[in-house]
Amino acid sequence: MNSLVRTGQNSSFAADPARYDALMSVLRDRVTARAFNAAYPMPRDHIELVMDAAAQAPSGANAQPWHYVAVTNAATKRMIAGQFASEHARRVAANEAGRARRALHRLDYEALAGAPGFIVVVLDPRMTWAFPGLMDGSELDQPYHANSERILLQSVAASVMAAHLAATALGYQTWWVSALGFDDARAAIVRELAIPRDLRVTDLLLFGPSLEPATPRWKKERRQILSWDKFDMDNFRTVEQIDEWIGELHGNNAIAAPGSPPKHIR
Ligand SMILES: Cc1cc2nc3c(=O)[nH]c(=O)nc-3n(C[C@H](O)[C@H](O)[C@H](O)COP(=O)(O)O)c2cc1C
Repeated sequence: MNSLVRTGQNSSFAADPARYDALMSVLRDRVTARAFNAAYPMPRDHIELVMDAAAQAPSGANAQPWHYVAVTNAATKRMIAGQFASEHARRVAANEAGRARRALHRLDYEALAGAPGFIVVVLDPRMTWAFPGLMDGSELDQPYHANSERILLQSVAASVMAAHLAATALGYQTWWVSALGFDDARAAIVRELAIPRDLRVTDLLLFGPSLEPATPRWKKERRQILSWDKFDMDNFRTVEQIDEWIGELHGNNAIAAPGSPPKHIR
């Protein structure tokens, strides 16, 4: 049904719980996988269907500041995976040399190369010009401009999320990867994919059949994320609680593996 025909102009409006349930089942099925069946031949039209979903996302000022490069070449996938893996290895080495406050869990970023659906997410920072600011660098403009960078990132995230849900609806598992901070690693990827220098690589969007059964990770309950009318201080965490929470996340590996909620959240 075309949702445009569902107006609130007369008393015939009725919510559609069945459609909500269908959406919730896709949302619940979206579980991060970190190893895919590399031998699976991803149909090109599945990549296109996922991209059609990405294109439907809302964005600030309808700027649609995203672009996607679908990588099909195995050597290119390996090269990009190598950038993520070597950056991660450098962080792990620094961590083990005692330069961090807590242990860093290890992830196998070489496994990125095995993703049958392998898409590099690209952002166009120039699209902040689409936002109705002064764009004159003035004192009045600067806070607005800083906010426009956030709007850009939020917009790209909305598009990427739509793509993840579409891939999930097709039956795939997905992996959202943003752990790339070094400029040289980004530059290598940009060169390899002939991405214009004005644009920025933000993440990878990976999908395919998972090698292992994907088990949902813990999620906060509704009461923990929702306040009515005024902020419910039961859900405000002190710095100590946040510290304990992060420590437990790393301790029980709940980022990388299915885990139970940290103690004070239960
Ligand atoms: C913006 C964003 C960035 C992420 N970056 C990474 C990443 O760099 N590496 C990684 O292994 N997982 C990454 N993830 C996946 C999260 O670790 C994962 O979503 C989280 O642990 C919750 O698990 P779930 O996706 O199974 O619900 C990212 C997810 C999001 C939304």
